Amino acid sequence: MASKPIIIALDYNSEKPVMELIAQLDPAQCRLKIGKELFTACGPDLVRNVKAKGFDIFLDLKFHDIPNTVAGACKVAADLGVWMLNVHASGGLAMMEKAREAVHKFGDDRPLLIAVTVLTSLAADDLKAVGVKANPEEQVSKLAFLTRQAGLDGVVCSAAETRLLRAQMPDDFCLVTPGIRRPEDAANDQKRVVGPVEALRNGSNYLVVGRPITKAESPADALASFNSALAGI
Ligand code: C5P
Repeated sequence: MASKPIIIALDYNSEKPVMELIAQLDPAQCRLKIGKELFTACGPDLVRNVKAKGFDIFLDLKFHDIPNTVAGACKVAADLGVWMLNVHASGGLAMMEKAREAVHKFGDDRPLLIAVTVLTSLAADDLKAVGVKANPEEQVSKLAFLTRQAGLDGVVCSAAETRLLRAQMPDDFCLVTPGIRRPEDAANDQKRVVGPVEALRNGSNYLVVGRPITKAESPADALASFNSALAGI
């Protein structure tokens, strides 16, 4: 199991609740994900402030643009000292290769670079509407192979895709999975959820958990419960 497999999603639109939450969390017990909403609201200063508290940050901005622009954005994200960042695999091989080159210049201190394959909000009909004839599973697999070919470190994948990708990809290819719930957690708007133990057993390396921790009465206790369920896997 990866060390600190829980990545807590900071789905907020201002700095105050973030700082209140992280004051209750131990950076030795979790990592944090900053996505488009929080980053658009608070920018790189917030990334620096959270990092200064000792947390590893997954900067979930899903870059998708021409290769030169994405490489530039990846360099700036790596300069911020984030632990992980991501791009859309559908941006293509050249874009991912340029992103990898930009990030690998940071040597041993470089962030992990992963890709999003097919957004889980897209079903077969949605793909058809944008000209993709493959079904979602085939497309996920195709884009994961392209990600691997570009030399990236892994992909974000749904719980439903984890087993397939773990079987198709080498052991060192990192799988990051959202949609994680314990039996006692509300599903919220997630359609298909999986338990933390099952997700790791299916081959995930890191689990993205939002509301079951951030909305808990005690986020620290909820995190401890996730971590103790995973201890020894
Ligand atoms: O609160 P919850 O645990 O549902 O949060 C899950 C996090 O993972 C959110 O930040 C969400 O945007 C993200 N995510 C997801 N499903 C995907 C990709 C990302 O839930 N397919």
